[in-house]
Order: sequence, then structure tokens, then C-alpha cells
Amino acid sequence: MKESIEALQREINAFAIRNDEELEAFRLRFLVRKGGIATLFDALRDIEPAERPTYGKLLNGLRKSAERKFEDAAGKLEQSASRAKTHGIDLTLPGRREFLGSEHPAQKVLGDMKRIFGDMGFTIATGPELESGSYNFDMLNFPPNHPARDMQDTFFIRRTPGEDDLLLRTHTSPVQIRVMLDEKPPIRVICPGKVYRNEAISARSYCVFHQLEGLYIDKHVSFSDLKATIYSFARQMFGRDVRLRFRPSFFPFTEPSAEVDVSCYLCSAKGCKVCKQSGWLEILGCGMVHPNVLKNCGIDPEEYSGYAFGMGVDRTALLRYKIDDIRLLFENDVRMLEQFSQ
Ligand code: DAH
Repeated sequence: MKESIEALQREINAFAIRNDEELEAFRLRFLVRKGGIATLFDALRDIEPAERPTYGKLLNGLRKSAERKFEDAAGKLEQSASRAKTHGIDLTLPGRREFLGSEHPAQKVLGDMKRIFGDMGFTIATGPELESGSYNFDMLNFPPNHPARDMQDTFFIRRTPGEDDLLLRTHTSPVQIRVMLDEKPPIRVICPGKVYRNEAISARSYCVFHQLEGLYIDKHVSFSDLKATIYSFARQMFGRDVRLRFRPSFFPFTEPSAEVDVSCYLCSAKGCKVCKQSGWLEILGCGMVHPNVLKNCGIDPEEYSGYAFGMGVDRTALLRYKIDDIRLLFENDVRMLEQFSQ
């Protein structure tokens, strides 16, 4: 008897009443004359008279709990039905669509870049936009009087003689330094982010823009590893048939250094206004990490070597989405941004 009562109590507790049908099913299962509880009451007859009061009490408790559950559920169902009615809600109507924001075109391009390098095993590292002069310049092997340190290019926040400068980073390369100081090789990271330059503002250049930096440090890393990586990236980013051109260049933090052009994917290298009839578009700077930079970060250049690259993001966004003024990317005018919702 005891087990039957407990089993029925468990069944009552577990019974879900979410609508009128389930409410009726509950009533039929437990509360009617032929229901589970009444049946147990009938069985009392076969129990020894001395034990009847004990079980009678338990059964009364069981009936109460079933009745309470029934009434609670009935009350709730009625309430929600009348609420729907009084508020005139037609529950069968399709919902109203929320306005979803759209991804910024520069973020779309950056997203593609992150995915492509992510697939090649690069992880993402970030650093602050407010950077120290030593990370932005000195540790990257910029000589003390390098013109890039000029007020013309850099937004200095604090310049106190004898102290480290505080500035808005002019490139994402200082994140390389931060990663090399923090981690032991092998290192394989990309560093996306905003950078700032004190430039004359025009349709083609703005005081803030996005870059993506790459860094790979390990034993026996060579320039051919760099080329293979850039080739693989460019094919996935700009199309399978693009060609690349590596031109010798100079950056204080790489030796040798190169700038890379991709065959113009707008005119299939035939020559157009954007590539200035040359058939080529510059996409990035790169090179083998300078031994001095490795040394500055406590990495032995005799044991390790590495490559680095840095590319602009916004220009690709402008070309891909046929936007003719870089300022549009930073004004956050919704009339412009909502054109990129999908
Ligand atoms: N930091 C450079 C710039 O802003 C771009 C760059 C060139 C980054 C070569 C690199 C590199 O990592 O190896 O113009």
C-alpha cells in the first residue's frame, strides 16, 4: 500500500500540465471516481482494520496534493487565456521582426582575414591602442631619430623628457613585441586592431584605420615560408587566379623586407583607375624579423628566426564594397552601415 501511495505521489508531481488537454488528462487520471486515488481508497477495505487510519491519512494527503495541483494549474491556464483575450493578442500571428544590426564592412574583411589565418594555425593576439613609445618604436629597432617618430605622423599623448612616451599606436607591430615578451617560440599569431596616424584627412586617408599584423617565430623559419603563407592567404582572400609581386623594401624591424602587390582583382590586371593602369595593388609589408628585435625580446636569433607581415584592412573593404571615401567607414552613419546587412 505504502509503495502504491508513494508511486502515485511521484506520478502526480511529475505530471506536466501545460494546456487544457493536459489538465483534463490529469483529472481523469487521478481525480475521478475510477481514477488512481479512488482506486487506492477502495483498496483500503482489504487492509487490516488497525492499519486503516494510517493509510487513510496518507491517502487524504495524496488527494489534497492532486486537487491543489489541479486547481493551481486550472487557475494559471485561465489567467493566461483571459490575458490574451483582454489584450487582444492573436497568438497565431507571426512575430514582429527585430531590426538586426549589420556587420561593419571593415569588420567583414577583418573577419575573412582572421578566418583564413586561423585555418593556417594562427591565433589572435591583441594589444592596447594607447601604447608606449618604446614598444611602438624602440623595441622594433627604429633608430632614435627615425622620421616615423615625427609629430607629423604620431599622436603623442605624453612626452616627458627622460620618460617613455605615451602615444596612439601608429601600427599593430608593437603587439609583436608584447607577444614575444610574453611567450616562448614557437609563436604564430595575428594581431588585428585600430591604428592612428596624424595624416591630412581625405577620401583616401584618415587619422584612424585598421591593420592586421602577423608573426611567426620558430626554428628554421625562412623567407620561403613567408612567401607560401602570403600566397595561400592572397588566393583565399582575392581569388584563386591572383598573382603576387614581392618588391624589396625597408622596415626597421625586418631584414630583408618586402612589399607585396596583388594583381588587380578589379580589372583582372588589365589596368583600371583603381590600380592606376598598373595592374597591381599593394596589399602588405613583410619581412624576416630583424635579429635586433628578437634580441630585444629575449629570443636568441642564432636559434630562432621568424617572419612578420602587416596589412591594411580598410582599403580592401573600400575596393570590395565599392566605397569611394574612407571617411564613410568611420562616420558610423546608419544609412551607410545598414546597406551591409544580410
Ligand atoms: N608596421 C608596418 C606599417 O605600419 C607594416 C609592416 C611591415 C608590418 C612589415 C610588419 C612587417 O610586420 O614585417 O607600415
